Amino acid sequence: MSGKTPRIYGRLAPWFHLLTSPDDYSEEAEFFRRTIVAASATPPETLLELGSGGGNNASYLKASFKMTLTDISPQMLAVSRTLNPECEHIQGDMRSIRLGREFDAVFIHDAIAYMITEDDLRRAIETAFVHCRNGGVALFAPDHTRETFLPSTRHGGHDGEGRAMRYLEWVHDPDPADTSYTVDFALLLREGNEVRCEYDRHICGLFGHEDWLRVIGSAGFSPRAVPFEHSEVEPGSSVVFLGIKPER
Ligand SMILES: C[S@@+](CC[C@H](N)C(=O)[O-])C[C@H]1O[C@@H](n2cnc3c(N)ncnc32)[C@H](O)[C@@H]1O
Repeated sequence: MSGKTPRIYGRLAPWFHLLTSPDDYSEEAEFFRRTIVAASATPPETLLELGSGGGNNASYLKASFKMTLTDISPQMLAVSRTLNPECEHIQGDMRSIRLGREFDAVFIHDAIAYMITEDDLRRAIETAFVHCRNGGVALFAPDHTRETFLPSTRHGGHDGEGRAMRYLEWVHDPDPADTSYTVDFALLLREGNEVRCEYDRHICGLFGHEDWLRVIGSAGFSPRAVPFEHSEVEPGSSVVFLGIKPER
């Protein structure tokens, strides 16, 4: 993250699965799995995820790939370890981590949103390139591009053992001329009958479709955009980006 770490990735990380539950990820994880497999010349076996967070996607993808999960936040890695104890977990910043090995595929899901300048984005994509074997693929899945971005509000949350969370999420773009937007959360945390309120701000990156393709191409990948398919997403309203590393 550039700037302040959102509370949900720090001291509130133990609440993460009540904000966004692994149960809600099966359809999108299946889309990511088949997109990675379809873009690969040979069946991929190893997958590196950068910014793996609570390990929600990984909890499905691990059935198809041997996964290495990395995140900048030790608290989030601890959350993911509870869900994915069989996966390798390593702390590191996606802009600079170097594991000294290559994978058949590299995946950055919504964590790519924390790249808020083009230089951050370039560094994260270079990390993906360095860790991708020749002929391998990288998949980048931002929540929005400049073209698909719409301000929104939504609410949700989940019940856990003896505690529960409900949230209001407000996505807005205070300065359409820069490369970032803002997501503000009001979090209601209930333990027994006690409820407290936390405010959390996320500053996220916003880049145009052609900028994505250009930055992925500059890293050395062959870039491609793929429409994101999900039963809760309007067709054509969202894209993900692939980088195919040349065979050499
Ligand atoms: C929304 S969560 C990812 C959730 C994930 N998609 C899942 O399936 O559970 C975003 C994650 O990005 C991580 N993150 C933010 N900036 C990062 C960086 N520079 N390098 C690595 N991870 C980062 C945060 O710590 C957080 O865990």
